[in-house]
Amino acid sequence: MAAVQEARTGDVGSRVPQTRPARRVLVFPLPFQGHINPMMQLADVLHGRGLAVTVLHTHFNALDPALHPAFDFVSVADGIPADVAASKSGNIIDIILAMNEAMEASTAVDEVLASVMADEARPRPACLFLDGNLLAVQKAAVRLGLPTLVLRTGCAACLGGFLAFPMFYQKGYLPRQVSQLYMPVKELPPLRVRDIFFSVDNNHEKVRTIIARIIETVKGSSGVVINTFEALEAKELERIRRELDLPLVLAAGPLHKLSSTTTGSSLLDQDYSCIKWLDSQPARSVLYVSFGSLASLSSNEFLEVAWGLANSGHNFLWVVRPGMIRGMNGIHLPNGFDVAVEGRGKVIQWAPQQEVLAHQAVGAFWTHNGWNSTLESISEGIPMICRPHSLDQTMNARYVAEIWGVGFELEGELERRKIELAIRNLMSGKEGAEMRERAEDLKMKVVECLESSGSSHIAIDKLVNYILSL
Ligand code: UDX
Repeated sequence: MAAVQEARTGDVGSRVPQTRPARRVLVFPLPFQGHINPMMQLADVLHGRGLAVTVLHTHFNALDPALHPAFDFVSVADGIPADVAASKSGNIIDIILAMNEAMEASTAVDEVLASVMADEARPRPACLFLDGNLLAVQKAAVRLGLPTLVLRTGCAACLGGFLAFPMFYQKGYLPRQVSQLYMPVKELPPLRVRDIFFSVDNNHEKVRTIIARIIETVKGSSGVVINTFEALEAKELERIRRELDLPLVLAAGPLHKLSSTTTGSSLLDQDYSCIKWLDSQPARSVLYVSFGSLASLSSNEFLEVAWGLANSGHNFLWVVRPGMIRGMNGIHLPNGFDVAVEGRGKVIQWAPQQEVLAHQAVGAFWTHNGWNSTLESISEGIPMICRPHSLDQTMNARYVAEIWGVGFELEGELERRKIELAIRNLMSGKEGAEMRERAEDLKMKVVECLESSGSSHIAIDKLVNYILSL
């Protein structure tokens, strides 16, 4: 293991690496794709700076150690009831609550952490990086005297919204009322009530509990790293730093652009045949369509999307994830669809998304606005059609449209004619061209923040030095 290269902050550029005995970080991602990816990207970045990495993971959505040979892997009993776990991507909020409850009721986490910490064959752990949804794991770490850092896998505005949740209730914005959905949250522009974090599958009390626990975990940590960058969310970061009395609040993203591994943590097999197909398409001619690892469509919505894509006349690459269509076993595209889209449309089950968005043939992204997808699109200068489903997606979509101006929301019922017009607007309309320009500008800001003198690169320098000081 290379000794850690301790960066001397301030003299960026002419950095003279100093060697020190290697230290180790433990990472514990929440076992869902949108949380696994940023945590493994962060682990890869820290490993690249000379830190040894041990990945703690649940049996549920277990990671494949073979994909990260440089890391140690330790499995932790998660106690998720079989029926709750059965649907895999299931109801994320129920699974988070069930997992934390089971972990808090057992000594499994304490035992695993204690044995990892006692392992003298490996460098002493400096800290445990955990997902903000793992309060039970943080409690075990505190009992063992192990410092914790939190990786926030959503944007800074999302964490700001979590901090404001008590105010949302005090002011009557929540519980959300259908009649108030478009009411502005004047204390937190540009949010409206409809943009506040919510779940379609759970009552608002469960959501309130989950968010209160995330805030408790963040406030109980030795610092928080957010997968965003300073230029994108300066105002939100400033407010969070003011509200959180923590020694470290770092914007160290886009993590996937700092990480060397892009495919190392996909729970589904990524279909690389689409890259060869993209190679045969003209530059910026393809609309990439994907709704992440959790969102779903009704079978009727599925048909409307299919015909909206076909009738738009534009090229498209559409991810139809297994299980994405409620009430449909398997993927049954409508009769005549294949003929209608021959040569210009391709449907796959799971994409190498980061490579797809970086491909010169892709000109736009129809997304559900999960934060990773949103940040990956921004990183490649790709404008978006936003179709948020729930959770933080509505807030992400609001910022894409209102603050960053690199997309627009497709609201209301999914209907083929509306879809067709939205695609044409983004792919070949004036408004779409203006969004593309702004997306290109944001891409340049991403490039800048990743340079050795850039804000995210310096944030990682600070993080490594901070970890070494623990
Ligand atoms: C979940 C929540 O839904 C989201 O709101 C939250 O911000 C993060 O956790 P998910 O819905 O899976 O995430 O969406 P997203 O955040 O976009 O993460 C999906 C990840 O899977 C991305 O990193 C994307 O690159 C990857 N992906 C997606 C693929 O590798 N292939 C695909 O076909 C689609």
